[in-house]
Amino acid sequence: MVVWTPGCRVMLIGMGEKDSLGHRMARNTGARTMASLSKKKGISVCVRFTSGWTGERMLDFAEGMMLRDYEFLEHQEIDESHISEPWSIDFQASPRHQETLSGGLSLIHSVVGGVHLARDLGNEPANVLYPMEYARRAEEWAVGKDNVSVEVYDWEKLQELGMGGLINVGKGSDRKPCMVLFTLNPEADEGIQRPCIVGKGITFDTGGISIKPTGGMWDMKYDMCGAATVFGLMEALYSTGFSKRVNGIACLAENMPGSGAYRPGDVFKTYSGKTVEVFSTDAEGRNVLSDGLWKAGEMDPEYIVDLATLTGAVVTALGNQISGMWANEEGIAKRIKAAARRSGEPVWRMPLNSQFRKYMTESAFADIRNGSIGGRAGSSNSAASFLEFFVPHRGFDEEAEKIPWVHLDIAGTAWGPGAKARSEGANPLFQYGTSGVHVRTLHRLITED
Ligand code: BES
Ligand code: MN
Ligand code: ZN
Repeated sequence: MVVWTPGCRVMLIGMGEKDSLGHRMARNTGARTMASLSKKKGISVCVRFTSGWTGERMLDFAEGMMLRDYEFLEHQEIDESHISEPWSIDFQASPRHQETLSGGLSLIHSVVGGVHLARDLGNEPANVLYPMEYARRAEEWAVGKDNVSVEVYDWEKLQELGMGGLINVGKGSDRKPCMVLFTLNPEADEGIQRPCIVGKGITFDTGGISIKPTGGMWDMKYDMCGAATVFGLMEALYSTGFSKRVNGIACLAENMPGSGAYRPGDVFKTYSGKTVEVFSTDAEGRNVLSDGLWKAGEMDPEYIVDLATLTGAVVTALGNQISGMWANEEGIAKRIKAAARRSGEPVWRMPLNSQFRKYMTESAFADIRNGSIGGRAGSSNSAASFLEFFVPHRGFDEEAEKIPWVHLDIAGTAWGPGAKARSEGANPLFQYGTSGVHVRTLHRLITED
């Protein structure tokens, strides 16, 4: 309810029963509050929390406000009446919350900066953001930051290393593929196993020779949202002053048809040495990730998390608010589930089993095929089994256990059904375009252990 006074507008927000106020309600209401404000009425806001609030819930509310305060106006004429000046927001609460609030708000502000960076990358059209442009932005980001390193494996380097997954997916495009390797705090934690996060970065997915239908193609500029989350996470960790080592790997390619493109039936060798028979050139995400996962093994990571807009089937199964999760180890699966839930970015565990493994490895012509003999049956699960095949054993020793690994299929959650226009989608945390999903989950996972 809004009350007008001569000097200011007062918006009263009812939060319901104080004992049932969870983080989700607080965060979403913060976002909806932000959405209902107009800068035309003034850019200075005071948020006054009444006595029933805990410090933690106040921070959730503020996080919702900050997440929602986002727009992407890079390529359009900006309306004269548009106010670009940032909001000035004061948060007021009882003095005993002072410490929680001032520390918490600046932390959240930094993490949300990473989410917004991930959204920017996702929202850029594919003619602007192609593989080497992502690499250029990553290198530019690293300039002047003495505790980050960014290395780029360009077209030549990919040949030298034999990264056949990236090469084959990307070779049909004039915009050549690359791998971008981020390391935060490269000097820290020598000899200690640390996380490695891998992202699918298909800057545009036409499907290649197995071309997609016209209607199903528009969204595919978002097919690099896994890689966008990796970059956004690096920014979030950096700007919150995280001091331990973390690795990130982005696998970038543009999947195009053309005379130089790979084709169904082709057999190629991946970085791991294992060969892939191409069933569909449109199952390209798993091909590029095969190289990324194998590369991740070289860092001897504590665990690997990959993020990918991998399958349409996960959207059918879980919708737009829950990411699919597959894991080869219970401990890391539980930790991610908890971090995701607390962040309001829920995941749902899906199966890895011998049936789905068999669906992929029954190729007559190669070690594995990138399409399932089960066809559409459980095709998000068979895709995950393909990835599992490329998760290295510890120290690349077949006798050792596989490195703990989690795969997140974000095809449904990286953008929403309202992603095309500026209409209110189902998720109040973003209005249109991409969500920057799992930057917060992974920041929480990595910093809170
Ligand atoms: N990028 C798509 C998956 C996708 C589809 C993401 C719809 C978001 C919305 C992926 O590369 C793809 O094309 N997957 C195929 C796999 C199939 C050819 C085995 C799919 O899901 O149909
Ligand atoms: Mn595809
Ligand atoms: Zn794709």
